[in-house]
Amino acid sequence: MTRLGVLLSGRGSNFQAIAESISAGRISAGIAVVIGNRADAPGLAAARERGLTTICPPSKGLDRETYDRQLIAALREHGVEWVVLAGYMRILSAEFIRAFPRRILNIHPSLLPAFPGLDAQHQAFDYGVKLSGCTVHFVDEHLDHGPIVTQAMVPVDPDDTADSLAARILAEEHRIYSESLRRLLTEDWRIDGRRVVFTP
Ligand code: GAR
Repeated sequence: MTRLGVLLSGRGSNFQAIAESISAGRISAGIAVVIGNRADAPGLAAARERGLTTICPPSKGLDRETYDRQLIAALREHGVEWVVLAGYMRILSAEFIRAFPRRILNIHPSLLPAFPGLDAQHQAFDYGVKLSGCTVHFVDEHLDHGPIVTQAMVPVDPDDTADSLAARILAEEHRIYSESLRRLLTEDWRIDGRRVVFTP
């Protein structure tokens, strides 16, 4: 069974959706460790309630490379094969990305390459787009940038607020993150330039 390592910073609803997909047998994997960069992240508490191993490495005074080396060591110690970023709000060092080649996934709440960075749902709403959505992608050394695995579209309704739009996007995030993981772990695929190609 594939061993996943989850990195999160906050609420952890994407982590919970994946944990539930695993419990329901939709994804054949196990969550070996959940790592948070904030001790008070609700996602860490939720992981502990599920009986999962959680870690929150100290970051005070450490540069990115040194901090990330702790993460690499912890993930290796727990035999992690795939790294799942679930609302992890720190940029990863190049060394971290090289440590898990083509094995780091992220979910972002916009149709990339539109609206990378923070508060993507609000950025999209304020821009006035008629369609937004979310993207599951491999992580490379640039922010919200690597090859795209799956996207889901969410239309903006005339009476939407940024928050109501974000809530509908989140429901799609939960759906496509589990589905992407399931496909990557069970189907044949390759990365062709920027394109993730699933092969029959
Ligand atoms: C999610 O909307 C996720 O797409 C976003 O943070 C939120 C975390 O929610 N991630 C990014 O913006 C990454 N650039 P969650 O903690 O409930 O999963």
